[in-house]
Amino acid sequence: MHFNTRCIHGPGPAPDHTGAISAPIYQTATFAHPGVGRSTGFDYTRCVNPTRCALEETLASLESGAAALAFTSGMSAIATVAELFSPGDHLVVSADVYGGTHRLFADVSAKNGLRFTRAGSADQIAAAIEPSTVAVFVETPTNPMMQVVDIDAVARATHAAGALLIVDNTFLTPFFQRPLELGADIVVHSATKYLAGHNDTLAGVVVVSDAALAERIGSLRSTLGGPLAPFDSWLVLRGLKTLACRMERQTDSAARLADWLAAHPAVTQVYYPGLASPADLAISQRQASGHGAMISFRVVDQARAHRVLASVRVIQFAESLGGAESLITYPLTQTHAEVPEAQRRELGIDATLLRLSVGLEDPRDLIADLASALAPPSDSLPAADAAVPR
Ligand SMILES: Cc1ncc(COP(=O)(O)O)c(C=O)c1O
Repeated sequence: MHFNTRCIHGPGPAPDHTGAISAPIYQTATFAHPGVGRSTGFDYTRCVNPTRCALEETLASLESGAAALAFTSGMSAIATVAELFSPGDHLVVSADVYGGTHRLFADVSAKNGLRFTRAGSADQIAAAIEPSTVAVFVETPTNPMMQVVDIDAVARATHAAGALLIVDNTFLTPFFQRPLELGADIVVHSATKYLAGHNDTLAGVVVVSDAALAERIGSLRSTLGGPLAPFDSWLVLRGLKTLACRMERQTDSAARLADWLAAHPAVTQVYYPGLASPADLAISQRQASGHGAMISFRVVDQARAHRVLASVRVIQFAESLGGAESLITYPLTQTHAEVPEAQRRELGIDATLLRLSVGLEDPRDLIADLASALAPPSDSLPAADAAVPR
């Protein structure tokens, strides 16, 4: 079946004797045993639950994986994958990653003896690989600078060293980009974002190309205790049914907004894969069938950035992304606050940078909202210094 159909039905029709169209929510912590040494296949929800299984089968199918595992959050998913590695192991990580991933690696994994090197392009990643490298972790496009990383090139360099390639596919989702088909071994998601799609559920996902690796990660998940609850699994399943049309619509709107922002006099730079350099655009078009709905942009100065955050009305000033509601984020104090200042400066995450997640509202209303928020201050409006983020 085609991708859009599998978003709705999963890999096949659900075997439910009642004929229920929507997957049942098995809101139970435990399952009765038919006898000693016998099991229905379901014993305890921390290990396995039928609603979560339905979600995982759909996710494995959409990401072209051997198996998928659903977690309580994206961070729980990434932290559990990090437990595959041992003290002394070395990982190469995208220089520009979500701040929470940076904090996990810098504060927790490093304390557990893992070593990390940050690198940007595929060439820099290949050069950073050393004999003790066990994994490469990349986001593409990166958060928040929207840099495109060549998954195929990184996969070749990673596998030549006998290491695993892990790709955070949160921004594009399998609708646009399927890293396992491009050579990655593990895909992670904050399913809180586009997969669930409604800014109402926290969830994470791991999808792997190899069943034995899935078993290892599944065993770590049961041990560490991070599997997604049945009701939240159902919410993500419900979100997935509209993934294809949401991604199409949000991306169409984002392309319009990116062009509009690029022409605005108060905007000094727009970071959007569709507006990338010819070389990055070529990589993006080769590995993804769309540019997604995340845009970062820079405004003339800090006062204007604060003013935008205080003035938007349709777009909400909030962390997160990927839902029906458009959100604007200030990476400096929100998503990337935990990245050390020197690294932030090197990446360009400063007081003038804003990140926009384009939602499902009519793009004309989003443009009108940004037009009034970006307007230069006038006497009738609050002074820029008073425009403190809400
Ligand atoms: C790219 C990316 N990966 C991972 C995460 C972490 O996911 P969660 O917030 O669901 O724990 C986020 C959260 O913003 C993210 O943007």
